[in-house]
Amino acid sequence: MARRPGAAVVRDVGAYLKAHDHMSLLRFITCGSVDDGKSTLIGRLLYESKAIFDDQLAALDEDTKRFGTRGAELDLALLVDGLTAEREQGITIDVAYRYFATPKRKFIVADTPGHEQYTRNMVTGASNADLAVILVDARKGVLTQTRRHSYLARLLGISQVVLAVNKMDLVGYGRAVFEGVVAEYRAFGAQIALTEITPIPISAVYGDNVTRHGANMPWFAGPTLIEHLESVEVEARLAAQPFRLPVQWVNRPNGDFRGFCGRIVSGSVRPGDRVRILPAGREASIARIVTADGDLEAAVAGQSVTLTLGSEIDVGRGDVIAAADAAPQVASQFEATLVWLADEPMLQGRAYLMKAGARTVSATVTPLKHKINVNTLEHTAAERLELNDIGVCELELDQPIAFEPYEENRALGGFILIDRISNGTVGAGLIHFALRRSQNVHWQALDVDKKLRARQKGQRACVLWLTGLSGAGKSTIANRIEKQLAAEGRHTYLLDGDNVRHGLNKDLGFAAQDRVENIRRVAEVARLMVDAGLIVLVSFISPFRAERRMARALFEPGEFFEVFVDTPLPVAEGRDTKGLYRKARRGELKNFTGIDSPYETPERPEIRIDTTRLSAEEAAALVMSQLKAAGVTGPA
Ligand code: ADX
Repeated sequence: MARRPGAAVVRDVGAYLKAHDHMSLLRFITCGSVDDGKSTLIGRLLYESKAIFDDQLAALDEDTKRFGTRGAELDLALLVDGLTAEREQGITIDVAYRYFATPKRKFIVADTPGHEQYTRNMVTGASNADLAVILVDARKGVLTQTRRHSYLARLLGISQVVLAVNKMDLVGYGRAVFEGVVAEYRAFGAQIALTEITPIPISAVYGDNVTRHGANMPWFAGPTLIEHLESVEVEARLAAQPFRLPVQWVNRPNGDFRGFCGRIVSGSVRPGDRVRILPAGREASIARIVTADGDLEAAVAGQSVTLTLGSEIDVGRGDVIAAADAAPQVASQFEATLVWLADEPMLQGRAYLMKAGARTVSATVTPLKHKINVNTLEHTAAERLELNDIGVCELELDQPIAFEPYEENRALGGFILIDRISNGTVGAGLIHFALRRSQNVHWQALDVDKKLRARQKGQRACVLWLTGLSGAGKSTIANRIEKQLAAEGRHTYLLDGDNVRHGLNKDLGFAAQDRVENIRRVAEVARLMVDAGLIVLVSFISPFRAERRMARALFEPGEFFEVFVDTPLPVAEGRDTKGLYRKARRGELKNFTGIDSPYETPERPEIRIDTTRLSAEEAAALVMSQLKAAGVTGPA
C-alpha cells in the first residue's frame, strides 16, 4: 500500500474518530478485478487523503475493545457491525475495510476480491455499504463481472453507483470511448433497476479525476471521484423513515430501572412518542432516552441508546420497538433471496437458525424456487444451493418476527442463516415479502388433548428414535421392544424406514435433501402419534445430526429418547442381510450410508446400544428398563 511520505499511521483510533466525530460517514465498496486498477485507485484515495489508516478491520476491532469511550464506540460499532454476526459465528470472510477521511467526510471502503468464487466476500462488503464504485477498464468496457458486481450491489440495496471508467490514459483520454462505455452500462443498469449512476472517467495511475481534474480531460464537466464521494447524499433517507429499534439487550441493574438497549436502525424518537413492541404488538410510550452522558431530547437512526417505557410491559432481546402508527409487519413465512456462503450445500427442508436483527429463530427452506445465474441473470430450477449460489426461496420460521422488505429497510429485512451443529454462518438473505398462506392458517383449539388421550391408555406418550447404520439391527430391536410393550398392554406404533418408504415417502430417494425430507415427514408423523397418546418407535437410519435435532425439537422435554443402535461399519457390512453393502461397494448403489454418504454419530443419545456386546433381546430389555426409570411405563 502506498503511504504518504512522512504521514504517521493513526494509532490512537479513539482520539482519531473523536476528532472526526462531527463529520458524516460514507461507506462504499469497490468492485472490479485487480486488472481494472482497483488497488491503485484505493491506494490513491488513501494516499491523497489527509490521514492514512490502512490497518485491517481486525486491528481496529482490537482498539475498539481497549478504548470503549462512548463517543468513539458509536463509530467503531458502525465499522464492524456488518461483520459481527459472521465473526461471532466463526466464519472469516475476507473483506479488507479501510478507513480514511478528507476535511469534509469520513469514509470506510470495503475492498473485496472480484472473482466469482468470492461472491460471498462481496456480499459481506456490500451489505452495509451506501454506494458502490464499479471499476471498468476503458479498453474492455462492460464485462461479465461488471454485470455480476452491479447486480450483487443492487441486490444488497445499493442504489448509488459510480461507474469509474479507468485507464483513460491508455485510450488517449478519448471522450468517445468513455461515452461508449457509459451508454453500454446504462443499458444494463436499466435491466436491474439501477438508475442512480454517476459515470467518471479516471486514470488511477496518474490521478486524473480522482482527487483533481487535471488537464487531460477538459471535456469532462462532472465532479472528481472524491468530490462526488464527499457530497453524495446518503444518510437522510434512513432518518426520514419510521422509527425502529431492535432490542439488543435488556438493562436491569435493579428493580427500579428497566432499559431497552439497541441501535436505532431507522427514524427518530422522542420522549412521549407512542411505540409498539413487536412481534407481540403491545403499545406503550417512550419515557426516557438514556445515554452515559445524560438523557436526550431526541435520538435518530445510527445512534445507540437505552429507552425506558411509560408502562411495565414485557420486552425482551430480539423484540423490535417501532413507531406505533407505522409499525413493521409481523409474519413467519417469507419469500426471500438467499446467498449461500458455506461449502456444505443448502438443503431444502433442513432447519437452520435464522438471525434477523437481534432475534434468532428456526427457519426451514420450503422450497427453493429457483437459482439465479449472477452472470446472465437467468433463472434456473435447482434442488439446492452450493457455495456462492444465489436463489429465491420460501422460508418457514418456527415463530413470527417483525420485518420489513430488505428494499425498504436493510436492518429489518436482512438476515443470516446459521448451521445448528457447526454454529457457522452458512447463508445471507434478503426478505422480499410475507407469504399470505401463513396468515390464513390458524391453530385450532381442541378439547381432548395429548394428556387425556395418553391417560386413557394408562401411559405417558413418547417417541423412541432408533438411529444407526443400515443393518445395525434397528428394526430387529425396535420390533422386540414393541412386542414387550404390547405384552404389557401398552399402546404403540412402529414407524420403520423401509416400510414408510413404501407409502408416505415413496417419492423420496437417498440424496441428502431426500433424506432430510424423509426425516422431516416421519418426525411430524411421530409427533401426531405422540399427540394421539401412543408410544412411538421410529426406526430410521436418520444419518444427519441436524435432522435428529429438528425431530427432537418437535417434542416436549422428556418425550424424545434418541436410541443409538451402535454397530461399527465393518460389523454391519459383515452381516449385510439385504446384500446392499455388496451392491454399494460394486458401485451399483449410490449414496449408500457409511460407504459414499455420511453417518453422523449421535453425540448425546439417551440410550446407546452396543450391538457387538448385547443381543437384540438384551438391547430390548435395556430400553424397557430405561423407559421404566424415566417414568414412561409406570404401573398400567
Ligand atoms: S434414511 O437415511 O433416510 O433415514 P431410511 O431409514 O428411510 O434411510 O431407509 C434406509 C433403508 O433403505 C435401508 O435400511 C436400506 O434397506 C434401504 N436403502 C436403499 N438404498 C439405500 C441407501 N443408498 N442408503 C441407505 N439405505 C438404503
